[in-house]
Amino acid sequence: MSELGAHNELMEKDGQYARLEKLQRQFSSIDQEQSVEPRISSVTRSSAGMRSSPAEIASPLLIEDSPTQASPHPPPSFSRLLSLNLPEWKQGIMGILSAIAFGSVQPVYALTIGGMISAFYLPSHEEMQSRIQKYCMIFIILCLVSVVLNLFQHYNFAYMGEYLTRRIRLQMLEKILSFEAAWFDEEHNSSGALCCRLSSEAAMVKSLIADRVSLLVQSTSAVTVAMVMGLVVAWKLALVMIIVQPLTILCFYTRKVLLSTMTAKFVKAQCRSTQIAVEAVYNHRIVTSFGSINKVLDIFDEAQDEPRNEARKKSWLAGIGIGSAQGLTFICWALDFWYGGKLVNAGEISAADVFKTFFILVSTGKVIAEAGSMTSDLAKGSTVVASIFSILDRKSLIQGSDEAKNSSIGTKMTGRIEMKKVDFTYPGRPDRLVLHEFSLEVKAGTSIGLVGKSGCGKSTVIALIQRFYDADKGSLKIDGVDIRLLDIGWYRRHMALVSQEPVIYSGTIRENILFGKLNASENEVVEAARAANAHEFISSLKNGYETECGDRGATISGGQRQRIVIARAIIRNPTILLLDEATSALDVQSEQLVQTALDQLMVGRTTVVVAHRLNTIWNLDSIAFISEGKVLEKGTYVHLKNKRGAFFNLVNLQST
Ligand SMILES: Nc1ncnc2c1ncn2[C@@H]1O[C@H](COP(=O)(O)OP(=O)(O)OP(=O)(O)O)[C@@H](O)[C@H]1O
Ligand SMILES: [Mg+2]
Repeated sequence: MSELGAHNELMEKDGQYARLEKLQRQFSSIDQEQSVEPRISSVTRSSAGMRSSPAEIASPLLIEDSPTQASPHPPPSFSRLLSLNLPEWKQGIMGILSAIAFGSVQPVYALTIGGMISAFYLPSHEEMQSRIQKYCMIFIILCLVSVVLNLFQHYNFAYMGEYLTRRIRLQMLEKILSFEAAWFDEEHNSSGALCCRLSSEAAMVKSLIADRVSLLVQSTSAVTVAMVMGLVVAWKLALVMIIVQPLTILCFYTRKVLLSTMTAKFVKAQCRSTQIAVEAVYNHRIVTSFGSINKVLDIFDEAQDEPRNEARKKSWLAGIGIGSAQGLTFICWALDFWYGGKLVNAGEISAADVFKTFFILVSTGKVIAEAGSMTSDLAKGSTVVASIFSILDRKSLIQGSDEAKNSSIGTKMTGRIEMKKVDFTYPGRPDRLVLHEFSLEVKAGTSIGLVGKSGCGKSTVIALIQRFYDADKGSLKIDGVDIRLLDIGWYRRHMALVSQEPVIYSGTIRENILFGKLNASENEVVEAARAANAHEFISSLKNGYETECGDRGATISGGQRQRIVIARAIIRNPTILLLDEATSALDVQSEQLVQTALDQLMVGRTTVVVAHRLNTIWNLDSIAFISEGKVLEKGTYVHLKNKRGAFFNLVNLQST
């Protein structure tokens, strides 16, 4: 601390504090309107854009049912899922073959047990010994075979599942990132919900392939082999046993139907509580400082009520289902032995045959039971598969045409922006017309400032220029060509945005600057940082350009973050530069540093500047005063000031 004292004392001292105060006055900026509004506007801003303000977390909206999805899920298609796994067909075949082979191990084992028991009833001692030795050998072979087959089966299916997960995650993320901004505005597509979907759904697919499909193949093989063996050994008894088996299957089937109707709701409810948790952790500083921890915990607890109740209901049903299936199985066993005894009595089969058939077909029952308990997971899986494909099949509403892609290659952009009678409402709030017959022209290479009250639509204009949304009516042309006819990738490559919230990715400072131009050289990075007034502070850090920025840039200050973002914009060398209150979150000193960097960056580019503080825009080529979704006044700073209209009033407000 270098100075301490009351305002007047420090002012008299004419030290650092006085200098700061002077700077502040020079930048006399905060109009009355702003002093009331920043809070409100920052909340609307973040709730509309990032959906992360504490107000939103605490909002009861979250636990309301999210709006029903516009497009219903397509019927889930496992074959389509498997087709995504085609590149791993070799592992698939290996896995399936091993599963089939392993499926037959169980009936062979049952047959051996049956034979072994009857061996003890043999009259001759020698014969008994040699028979038992033979069976023991079979057991040892079965042991080795099981180990090898299991290894193959699990390795191959896990391999398939792992690659499928990776592929699906990548495809989903690629798809999600291509969607238009309006899609992200929807409640059920918030960052938390999407994280939950990306991690849990893709992982579920893996278990679907690695565990379920593998078990299904194995069970089918076991049941088929067992039935054939049973029929060969004692067909009459086997037939009776097979006939009663559907009773057990029916039991499991009922359970599955009950469960599958509940799982969809369950998964959704769980995602909602995850969404709340993710957002609270993401904004833990705000949540803590607002003292809203308890509130968040309450909402979280409440959101978990539904999954909890679902789980309770589910466990009841599961208990009844499994219990009755088990009971039915015992009754079937009683029937088997009674009928087997009758057949032995009648001399049709031997006691050994009864044991063999019994063990073989009982093992089938067990296999079916296992497969049956898996059906609930399959039900859950089908919901997930449907949800995954609903993302993969969705087309972004904002797409560049392929035609444009080909014609745009190598063409230059001069950067003339022309908006004509644009009407715009946000899809998420159809009742509010944000822009109404909005017209504006920015000549190539010139700068324009947008001013107006908070919420008048300045950021919306910037979003439209970036084509995050399409206008409802009217046209937006770039170099005389409708923006919808341009290749969107080509178009956005000519543009850079510096917004109020500097966006920093976790990674090094160098990597963060390189995001602006992926193939830039080391020299270019340093040059850009210099131009952004950032080189000095970066070099003073211990690791320089290799300093880790931490999660969302947590380890560097706001002003430093903003200058890194500007360096990123500089290295991009954009034709159109968009500045949305780029300096308003900074203190006076860093604002000055950043402003000098920005003034240099603007030279020779089409620049759209949104600013609350008029001192940052007086030197722009023109200024547009926006009110009620329209340009009310337009001209140079001096021209507008002399006009004594709305802009003049704003200037007066700010200079008092
Ligand atoms: N994603 C969105 N979904 C729905 N409404 C939105 C969205 N973003 C903004 N709005 C609304 O559109 C209007 C214009 O917002 P915009 O962000 O363009 O204002 P602004 O002039 O940039 O305000 P500020 O000076 O506070 O940044 C506001 O009423 C706002 O609530
Ligand atoms: Mg704004």
